[in-house]
Amino acid sequence: MLRSMACTTVNPKKSQNSLLIRNGTIVNADGISENDIFIENGIIKELGKNLSVPNGIRSIDAKGFFILPGGVDPHTHLEFEFMGTVTADDFYHGTKAAVAGGTTTIIDFMDGKENETLIDAYNSYREKAEGKVCCDYGFHMVIKGWNERIKADMETLCSEHGINSFKMFMAYSFRLNDSQLYSILEHIRNLGALAQIHAENGTIIDKNTERLLEKGITGPEGHELSRPEEVEAEAVNRVCVISKQVSCPVYIVHVMSKLAAQTLADCRKRGAQVFGETLASALGLDGSQLPHKCFEEAAGCLMSPPIRPDPTTPRFLMDFLKQGNLQVVGSDNCTFNKEQKKIGMGDFSKIPNGINGLQDRMSVVWEKGVHTGILSPTDFVAVTSTNAAKIFNIYPRKGCIAVGSDADLVVWNPTKTRVISAKTHQHAVDFNIFEGMECHGVPEYVIVNGRVCVDQGQLNIIKGSGRYLECPVFCPYVYKQ
Ligand code: URP
Ligand code: ZN
Ligand code: ZN
Ligand code: ZN
Repeated sequence: MLRSMACTTVNPKKSQNSLLIRNGTIVNADGISENDIFIENGIIKELGKNLSVPNGIRSIDAKGFFILPGGVDPHTHLEFEFMGTVTADDFYHGTKAAVAGGTTTIIDFMDGKENETLIDAYNSYREKAEGKVCCDYGFHMVIKGWNERIKADMETLCSEHGINSFKMFMAYSFRLNDSQLYSILEHIRNLGALAQIHAENGTIIDKNTERLLEKGITGPEGHELSRPEEVEAEAVNRVCVISKQVSCPVYIVHVMSKLAAQTLADCRKRGAQVFGETLASALGLDGSQLPHKCFEEAAGCLMSPPIRPDPTTPRFLMDFLKQGNLQVVGSDNCTFNKEQKKIGMGDFSKIPNGINGLQDRMSVVWEKGVHTGILSPTDFVAVTSTNAAKIFNIYPRKGCIAVGSDADLVVWNPTKTRVISAKTHQHAVDFNIFEGMECHGVPEYVIVNGRVCVDQGQLNIIKGSGRYLECPVFCPYVYKQ
């Protein structure tokens, strides 16, 4: 215990690296407690009542606020080359936006160029991120083919570089077929890693796209028409079947529809080792924004799988999070400016796919989940932080408030509101899919590795201060199931 009220000599070095948060209500995924938190050198050193510390140490009064583990967003695409262009948010702007919104850890997707080996891609992404990231970060690796070289590099990534998850696509031109998926999942299982799947039937999407364009449906409205819910659900079911043949755990990224979510839940009931992630966009938008006549707005909200026009979808997905049928809310932050979206003017299939969400994910889930009474604060922590930390094997270092955990915390004001806007957000992109949405739930303070990076709402980050996070294989949370 710290018993230092009598201590009169202040070690200036120690006081700079120390922080006390008093009087807050600490929310973890497994319960709520009233304790002070003492932080030293980026680590939570002590939890207890009425902690007293040497003079000179900064203390934050969190009375009336919740103290949450910093958000873990396991789905971001920063400085990502995609569909002929590069995302507006780089590792600096993306992680700056993340911290501003209460997210203190990201796991980004590395996607190598053609002719680049997976190890080259890893090195190039580490280089892109280093010097820019404002919070800790890990990586997943995208796999677009299958051969001995890829097989060996996946092994090296797991054993030497802290990668424990690989994303495969069932849509887009670089999709994998069932035979490749079968072999890759078998390999992933042997490595003790996790397979992540973009689940949409790419063959059907291509055929539908051809037909729609021939009919003269060339605007953004063609996008959802080309990939309806069952096209998403079919792929979810298919990959769950493959996963079961080779006993490989699977994580379905961006579950966007009721039918896909229901299919995933049915597969789980039948014993599939499958986790489901939905997105802030799917929970925050009710579809009424989508039939916009103007290209700018419709293209701005265009992503894959699409945000569904069915207004009952957000509530359905939120209920699934509450019931544990879905486990995680990511952002899939993959931002393109209005000018970049115009690449697809006249052909919806060429509009760069992607939306924002890194900054607003926490507020949107609070507003639509907790403020409405569907989720409890503990559920909120589970789906925005803890579950992702557990699945990607960085728990309890991340995703919880406990002695020994990294001091990544959010002092959350549940009553304060803010209105989301591209005019005020920290992203580099000139559009925000949640424009005009009023959200209860605002971070008053965000502590990243023990440093106050949002201070009474004011952002004060250090470019390049984030650290690379190794994610070990054979995650007990994934492999014990
Ligand atoms: O439309 C999306 N989701 N863009 C990002 C790439 C992906 O598939 O996650
Ligand atoms: Zn995807
Ligand atoms: Zn409009
Ligand atoms: Zn994505």
